[in-house]
Amino acid sequence: MSSSSSTPAKPRLRVGIAGLGRLGKRHAEALAFGNRHCQLVSACSPVPSELDWAREQLGVGRCHASFDTFLDDPELDAVVLVTPTSLHADQTMAALRAGKHVFVEKPLALNVEDCERVQAVAAEHPNQVAMVGFVRRFDPSYRRAAQRIEAGELGRPFLVRSQTCDQNDPEGFFVRFAPTSGGIFMDCSVHDIDLARWLLGRPKALRAFATGTIALHPGLAECQDVDNGLAIVEFEGGARAVFYASRTLPHGHETTTEVIGTAGTLQVGFGAHADRLELRSAAGVSHAVLPDFHARFEAAFQQEMAEFVAACRGERQLSLTLADATEATRIGLAITRSLRSGMPEAV
Ligand SMILES: NC(=O)c1ccc[n+]([C@@H]2O[C@H](COP(=O)([O-])OP(=O)(O)OC[C@H]3O[C@@H](n4cnc5c(N)ncnc54)[C@H](O)[C@@H]3O)[C@@H](O)[C@H]2O)c1
Repeated sequence: MSSSSSTPAKPRLRVGIAGLGRLGKRHAEALAFGNRHCQLVSACSPVPSELDWAREQLGVGRCHASFDTFLDDPELDAVVLVTPTSLHADQTMAALRAGKHVFVEKPLALNVEDCERVQAVAAEHPNQVAMVGFVRRFDPSYRRAAQRIEAGELGRPFLVRSQTCDQNDPEGFFVRFAPTSGGIFMDCSVHDIDLARWLLGRPKALRAFATGTIALHPGLAECQDVDNGLAIVEFEGGARAVFYASRTLPHGHETTTEVIGTAGTLQVGFGAHADRLELRSAAGVSHAVLPDFHARFEAAFQQEMAEFVAACRGERQLSLTLADATEATRIGLAITRSLRSGMPEAV
């Protein structure tokens, strides 16, 4: 076909980011430099130094302290929300009503009613994408795990054991983060909860039991939170899940998942090696460990954003739904209620 009769290239998706903290900066870099189908055109944060960073490091032209002004931009197609969890639901609904596609970080909201309100507003805007950032679904190892389960290699999967464990931060980031995060289960285990539902075939959760302890960060008690938490969830049909979350690993970040089925067991992420180097000496065997969640999931974050951009451009359908995010919140809340009551709680 001659160039004169070929279809003109689709314009790049014009994206704005709200929230430029620990994760927001990483998403902003990926949007600015990591995807040729989008351009990062604007940013929003109440913190002036964060906007200076976006302007100077990423060349972002339009920087807003106000979320309303940020949304009131006709030359913006999509927004990426990496703001405190307590703001997710209201900001997602406002962005959908302003005509934007929305990517919002997990969890979608800190109560089920807010999740359902977002779902209702999204249903009123069927031509806009609304996606929640369950990044592990975009990780190559977890994707292969899901494919092998789907292919029947585990027989009937009936048990998931999954953990999200962060390296201890003696500066106390997690204590400052706790008032808006929803607690360790809503913040960390919500990933494992989504994985368990995904890998077990989306069974309905019935009951949850949780316990926990504060090993290093007494400041968490003020938010009724813990720095090490354990939970068990029972699903309809006999499947079960066990979750462990920690803020206090001395050596690095460890996200691991085991799925046990009638014909086999599958493990993802054990060992947490940062690279392929192992030192064997008289002192023993050692290797470097992944420092944090971003180092572990960098490729998955890139893929997640690529799929969001492609969905906004009408090039693919997303398999992850808002209803999945609502269920993850519903289960995370039952676990959190159980942590506080000390009793099993209905989901
Ligand atoms: N997918 C993952 O693995 C993963 C990992 C880390 C964090 N998260 C999620 O990302 C979100 C942010 O977490 P974080 O660790 O980056 O937190 P953070 O506290 O480091 O950053 C929050 C950012 O939001 C900004 N902000 C606050 N109020 C705002 C407002 N009204 N409008 C716009 N910006 C506002 C702050 O200035 C800051 O830049 C949380 O919801 C968290 O659950 C997800």
